[in-house]
Amino acid sequence: MKKLSFVLILLLTVNMLFAQDAKYIGAQKCKMCHNAEEKGKQFTKWAESLHAKAFATLQGPEALKYAKEHNIADPSKEPKCLKCHSTAAGVDAALLAGLTVEEGVSCESCHGPGSAYKSISVMKDLAQSKANGLIIPDETLCKKCHNPESPTYKPFDFATYSQKIAHPNPKK
Ligand code: HEC
Ligand code: HEC
Ligand code: HEC
Ligand code: HEC
Repeated sequence: MKKLSFVLILLLTVNMLFAQDAKYIGAQKCKMCHNAEEKGKQFTKWAESLHAKAFATLQGPEALKYAKEHNIADPSKEPKCLKCHSTAAGVDAALLAGLTVEEGVSCESCHGPGSAYKSISVMKDLAQSKANGLIIPDETLCKKCHNPESPTYKPFDFATYSQKIAHPNPKK
């Protein structure tokens, strides 16, 4: 029994080490497989959404006005703003493998870092993809950013907000 739990702990540790290795590859890498018209054009839908523009928003007039009133020199360099407006800014630089700060709230904020699940053989199998870090996001994940800590917070209704960013595969 002791031996078995030792092996289990060892396996869990190895698993955790691998999970920590997953890196952020950026939306361009997802685009090559997730932008076909007949499969739902996920990349284009994201690129046209406010999530893709979330970093640019920090350079816009509204952000600059807020910054001036709150003694923030540059909101697009301010960690307090970037943490919700840019996937790349919120992760350890050692884990960046393609993802840029300018991408704003990118695929991997919601679906997890892609380096270990991006290959076709893994992606075809949902269980294997999840084991390699793919996240199918739920309300709790959205609320990491959609919460009153946001200076412009608007009440977040999961059903309506999900509809606004929906990018389903029509064939499923
Ligand atoms: C080499 C091609 C390829 C790449 C690169 C790729 N995917 Fe996939 N992905 C697939 C395939 C194939 C499926 C299986 C379903 C389908 O055909 O859409 C899939 C399924 C998915 C699913 C749906 C899982 C489910 O069944 O609900 C998500 C979410 C997803 N990919 C996200 C991503 C993200 C995010 C990236 C980039 C970080 C990415 N994929 C990169 C090919 C790819
Ligand atoms: C990493 C942080 C983050 C996560 C996670 C996140 N969002 Fe967002 N979301 C933002 C930011 C920042 C904006 C504002 C972008 C802008 O206006 O520049 C936004 C904007 C939106 C908008 C546009 C609102 C409008 O005014 O039209 C919708 C819809 C939305 N998010 C839905 C969701 C849903 C649904 C989820 C979970 C599946 C989610 N978001 C997860 C940060 C996030
Ligand atoms: C806790 C996450 C979070 C933080 C921190 C955050 N934001 Fe946002 N921001 C959001 C979300 C989510 C939205 C989408 C609208 C909403 O629900 O507030 C948004 C929207 C915006 C908008 C668009 C205006 C609007 O009404 O949609 C501006 C401008 C903005 N944020 C500026 C900032 C600035 C400047 C900072 C830093 C001082 C900051 N944000 C920090 C999450 C955040
Ligand atoms: C703000 C969060 C968010 C972002 C950003 C986001 N997604 Fe998603 N994605 C979701 C949610 C929520 C679902 C639906 C999950 C479910 O089925 O419950 C989904 C589903 C999917 C699916 C499965 C579609 C289907 O019907 O099988 C694919 C593929 C996918 N996303 C790819 C991407 C790619 C590629 C990007 C970036 C170009 C991206 N997503 C960006 C939240 C997000």
